[in-house]
Amino acid sequence: MLANLSGWVTRREGRKFLKLHDKIDDSVFAGAKDTGTISLYIHIPFCRTLCPFCCFNRYLFREDKARQYFKQLKGELDLYIKKGFTFSDFYFGGGTPTILMDELEGFIGYLKANFSVKRISLETTPREVNRENIARLKAAGINRLSIGVQSFDDDIVKAMGRPFGPSEEMKQQVLMAQGEFDTVNVDFVFNFPGQTIDQFKADVQTFKELKIDQATFYPLMASPHKKSALERRFNRVDITEEKRFYDVILNELYADDCKASTVWCFSRGERMIDEYIVDFDDYIGIGAGSVSIVGGNFYVNTFSLDRYGELLSRDTLPIVGWRKLTERENQRYYLLTKLFGMELDTGKFAQRFGAGIETKLRAELFFLKLFGLAGGKDKIRVTRKGMYPVSVMMREFFTSLNNLRELYIEEQT
Ligand SMILES: C[S@@+](CC[C@H](N)C(=O)[O-])C[C@H]1O[C@@H](n2cnc3c(N)ncnc32)[C@H](O)[C@@H]1O
Ligand code: SF4
Repeated sequence: MLANLSGWVTRREGRKFLKLHDKIDDSVFAGAKDTGTISLYIHIPFCRTLCPFCCFNRYLFREDKARQYFKQLKGELDLYIKKGFTFSDFYFGGGTPTILMDELEGFIGYLKANFSVKRISLETTPREVNRENIARLKAAGINRLSIGVQSFDDDIVKAMGRPFGPSEEMKQQVLMAQGEFDTVNVDFVFNFPGQTIDQFKADVQTFKELKIDQATFYPLMASPHKKSALERRFNRVDITEEKRFYDVILNELYADDCKASTVWCFSRGERMIDEYIVDFDDYIGIGAGSVSIVGGNFYVNTFSLDRYGELLSRDTLPIVGWRKLTERENQRYYLLTKLFGMELDTGKFAQRFGAGIETKLRAELFFLKLFGLAGGKDKIRVTRKGMYPVSVMMREFFTSLNNLRELYIEEQT
């Protein structure tokens, strides 16, 4: 009930992210670089096979296109450098960032030549994890490696349309990486059509047994188009089952030696997390289909590879949608992302928005405290009871973004 209500509010807020102007006002960048530390997200949209459930902007790998793309990425980065932006924390997402290792190494070299690189996080698939790649990623300075396992259950992996596995091999691949980086993360998906609670319990158990540094559990997020495609291919996507899956995570991990780094991410000890949206108030995304939040502005890059190349050949940022968030949208977005990261520092909120959260977001705070979803004074922390409602809020927010992606992908904007 509480989760449904908070989900509904977030869905309504998230819809606003769909109403974008198609031309960005260049004044956005004028003061933006002074807003504090901004992280850089780099999207590599190529995969060797395309998983039917995946909502990200991805294309079937073609070497010539991918090589050209890495060149264009440098061009996009140069445009930000010219505007005076500087970065120290980087996140490579995909797609499959390791799809062309020599290009990836070249790009990281370019980052090191231009910035003082502090931390790099990178996503990959189990298939790409081998001794040679691990050595090369270590040498390139990757701090956090995130491996998309999704499930160690062979039937589920097959149902997901992923040509990885068998699961015993995936376990060996994860263990090969474990201990080689500051943080090794494994991604799982829950509430996939046909997945049983027992199958998911076994996945959480395997994560514990393998003693991997970190796991991120994503609730299946299906935009309307993906939802009907999934339902044609598999069973019904049943959102009412989601809480039962989430309870497995809480029961197995909350009281264990794991710490909730976000409501979806559980770590052993202090670890890096993949959520640049939690660690950083602002982030810029480069690459086809990336989104950015800078100084209260939300904007989207083109999803089309052709358009991406064409705009960059004219030294133009490949931005195709922009929205200046209102002060209130900005504050609510801030609240959502910090709750997602389990804690909001009230001093930092006041510093950023010029007044305390108790005056700026009085009703939201009242609701959270009244129902025991969060508590505390200087630091507002999400309680165990609050974790699922926050998970629903984040799922709704990401689903709105997925709707946006779908819209742009369909139109190839
Ligand atoms: C974009 S993928 C990149 C990782 C890598 N390509 C892989 O699949 O192994 C990052 C993570 O997003 C999650 N993901 C992708 N599509 C999703 C969806 N529709 N719902 C929930 N999570 C999803 C998966 O857990 C995946 O590991
Ligand atoms: S889940 Fe990963 S491998 Fe599958 S299509 Fe999406 S990005 Fe590519």
